[in-house]
Amino acid sequence: MSWTKEDLQQLVKTKLADRRFIVVSNREPYIHILSGDEIQCIIPASGLTVALDPVMQACGGVWVAYGNGSADREIVDEKNRISVPPDEPCYTLRRVWLTKEEEEGYYLGFSNEALWPLSHIAYTPPNFDENNWDIYKKVNQIFADAVLEEIGDKQAFVFIQDYHLALLSRMIKAKNPQVITAQFWHIPWPNTEAFRICPWGEEILDGLLGNDLLGFHIRYHCDNFLETAKRMLESRVDNERSAISRGGRTTLVRPFPISVDFSRITRDAAEAEVEEEMEEIRRRWQLGDEFIGIGIDRLDYTKGIPHRLNALNKFLAKYPEYRGRIIFFQLGEPSRVHIKKYRELNSEIDDMVEELNWKYQSGAWKPIVYIREHLSPATLLAFNKLAHFCIVSSLHDGMNLVAKEFVSSRTDEDGVLILSRFTGAARELTEALPINPYATDDFAEAIKRAIEMPKEQRQARMKKLRQVVEENNVYRWAGNIISELANLGL
Ligand code: F6P
Repeated sequence: MSWTKEDLQQLVKTKLADRRFIVVSNREPYIHILSGDEIQCIIPASGLTVALDPVMQACGGVWVAYGNGSADREIVDEKNRISVPPDEPCYTLRRVWLTKEEEEGYYLGFSNEALWPLSHIAYTPPNFDENNWDIYKKVNQIFADAVLEEIGDKQAFVFIQDYHLALLSRMIKAKNPQVITAQFWHIPWPNTEAFRICPWGEEILDGLLGNDLLGFHIRYHCDNFLETAKRMLESRVDNERSAISRGGRTTLVRPFPISVDFSRITRDAAEAEVEEEMEEIRRRWQLGDEFIGIGIDRLDYTKGIPHRLNALNKFLAKYPEYRGRIIFFQLGEPSRVHIKKYRELNSEIDDMVEELNWKYQSGAWKPIVYIREHLSPATLLAFNKLAHFCIVSSLHDGMNLVAKEFVSSRTDEDGVLILSRFTGAARELTEALPINPYATDDFAEAIKRAIEMPKEQRQARMKKLRQVVEENNVYRWAGNIISELANLGL
């Protein structure tokens, strides 16, 4: 049985009763930007916000996040709040402001140059800078103050997101011990050997153990966390209960595989606007009967985009009969471009696309179309629906919701998903074609297999994939977390 928005609403009503429901994350679900003289609202390319927005729409409450849009300040009230979504407001977005220096030290510096590469096995070394760590602590306190203000004198359940806010629960509880907190870590948790190089590892672990409940996507990351706490911190680790006690209080550690709003995506995919977008894409790129492949990613070195281009190169070299018959659309949303590694990745991809197109192009045909820009949800759905196959080739990924979005959009029960074994999603989406992105020859064979797969097999696989995502949708994810808290006597 799949969970619905209404099921979650009912659960929240009975379990949370009159507690305030507050979500906190770095990234905000709606960003207001200046576009000429106009204020435009955009939805960021973030699996986290895409997953949590429907949960907030179902539960109501307050979402506290960093307001980094160029018009964000212009549109909030005197308490820095705004009702969202813009077309059907049903919850409050409370924006937190940061200076450029704070953004640099906390977001770019510590979160994304230290914790991000530390948590992902992508062979990019973390950069630990003491000044960034100090700013990270300071910014966690800024978020904690905003959350405490939103709680006021009410009872509250605070649901903290991700690695930007590892110290938050302790800071909140230092001022208001009644608050219940759960935190979800959206990226992998590394093994102890990898984690222990962090000079402030103990403080981070201690910060996370301020939570009543700590969630990861998969059991393996929970086990890594339990082991890390056991080896690095004075604490009692109960593997049987998957719980850690420290300083007289206990944190439960649980796997909750995150997902998407399957029914909403399925519904949106059937909209006339998406059909029009598909027409527009066919017209714009003069598509005929070519095989269409897609990759949709934030331009991040963990996503394995160069590895994917290598595999496409190998495929075209080995199977020349497909030259002129396949077009691969790489859609890339620029991300964290103030970090050198990300800028280097951008030029690497530019060079590889240029090289590949130069090598194989013939007449008007080029194998790769690279679109590096922010695209609307309708355009992304149109590409998802047009594709014969979608490639997700992450080197390491907590879950990867692009894979689940592709599946949810395929109301025609067709299309093949090529999915890296190193994503959390690979554990659930077993009817995808699994790949090791480093194994270029096998990867190229998987592309061939996707293209040549008979229709009945494609449909049988897609049908099963859709059942999995429909059943394990984002309402189940949130419902499981809230039910687990309720068992704690919330
Ligand atoms: O899922 C991990 C994550 O870092 C989220 O926290 C974030 O919103 C998303 O990826 C996109 O990254 P960013 O917010 O840095 O653009």
